Amino acid sequence: MQLKIALLPGDGIGPEVIDQAVKVVKAIGKKFGHSLSFETGLVGACAIDATGDPYPDTSHDICVGADAVLFGAIGDPKYDNDPKAKVRPEQGLLRMRQKLGLFANVRPTFTFPSLVHKSPLKLDRVDGVDFVFFRELTGGIYFGEPRGRNEQGTKAFDTNVYSKEEIVRLARMGFEAARGRRKLLTCVDKANVMATSRLWRETVQELALEYPDVKVEYEFVDAVAMRLIQWPKAYDVLITENLFGDILTDEASVISGSMGLMPSASLGSKVKLFEPIHGSYPQAAGKNIANPLATILSAAMMFDYAFGLKAESNAISDVVNQSLAEGMVTEDIAEGGKAYTTSEVGDWLAERLATN
Ligand code: IPM
Ligand code: MN
Repeated sequence: MQLKIALLPGDGIGPEVIDQAVKVVKAIGKKFGHSLSFETGLVGACAIDATGDPYPDTSHDICVGADAVLFGAIGDPKYDNDPKAKVRPEQGLLRMRQKLGLFANVRPTFTFPSLVHKSPLKLDRVDGVDFVFFRELTGGIYFGEPRGRNEQGTKAFDTNVYSKEEIVRLARMGFEAARGRRKLLTCVDKANVMATSRLWRETVQELALEYPDVKVEYEFVDAVAMRLIQWPKAYDVLITENLFGDILTDEASVISGSMGLMPSASLGSKVKLFEPIHGSYPQAAGKNIANPLATILSAAMMFDYAFGLKAESNAISDVVNQSLAEGMVTEDIAEGGKAYTTSEVGDWLAERLATN
C-alpha cells in the first residue's frame, strides 16, 4: 500500500516520541512492503512561536492531504501559568479536532502481563482489565457558546450543549465496538443533574433498541470514577461526553501502570488521528527519557483503524510486549532495573521488527 502519514510532533516530549514511532512505522513498511511518505506540520506552542497561530492552515492542509495523522502532544508551562494569554496551545488542538471532524476519541485501557505489578491497584483488580472509552470530542462544554466573562470580569461561564445527532454518531460507534467485544456498553452521564445528560440517556435508550445483543448500563459519572478504581474489570465499552471522558480517561490510563503506555485514536468522517494519552511532559522534554510506547501503540492503532492492516498493527503490539518482557524500557517503568533512553527503545523495537 501507499501510505501518506502526516506528523504533528507538537510540544514537549512530542517530537522525541514521534521520532521513535516513525522508526517503528518505517520498519513495518519495510517488513510488509508498504511505501510510506511523511510530511511534518506545526501545532501547539511551537506553532505559536513560529507563526502566531497554534494550528496554522499549512498544518491543516498537511493533515487533510494525508491518509492518517500521528500527533505527539501540545502544551507549554509558559501558557499554563498565564491564564490571561490570548492565544493558547490548547486552542490549536481543539481547532484541529473540530476542523478535522474528529468527534470520537477512542481510548483503550488494557494491561501488560509483565507490568501488572506496577499498577497502583491490587493485582486481582487489574489482571485482565480490558475496556475502552469512546469520548465525544468536538462538542459539549469544550465548544458550547456562550462562554467567557461578564463585562466586569467578575463572573465566568461555559456552556454545555449537545444535539441528539452528536450523541447518536458517537454512541453508534460505541455500540458497534461493543458488538465486536464483550457486548457490554456503559453510558456515563450525570442525568440526575444535567439536561444534556438526560438527552444522552434518552438518546442511548432509543439507539439501544437497534442493538438488542448489547447489554446497556447507565451509570452516573461520579459512580464510574469510583468503580473504575474498585472494579475496573466490570467495564467493556464506555461512552461519554467530552469533559467526563477527558477526566475519566486520565484516571483509567494509570491503571495499567504508567501513563506513558496508553494510545488513542480520534475518528470522524475525514482523516483519522492517533496520539498518546499523556501530555507534553515538559519536565522531560529534550532529555531523551520519555516513554515512547504510547505513541508507538498509537501507530499500531493507526495501522488497524486507518489502514485496516491488522497484521501490521499486531506486529507492533507484539514487539512492544517483547520489549517490556525483556526489560528494554524507559525509566518510568524500569523499577531499579536498567533504564534505557527514548531513542534506544525506539531503535530496539525497529531492529527487532526487522528480525522478527
Ligand atoms: C486531552 C487533553 C486535552 C483535552 C487538552 C490538552 C486540551 O487533556 O487530549 O485529553 O482536554 O482534551
Ligand atoms: Mn485530557
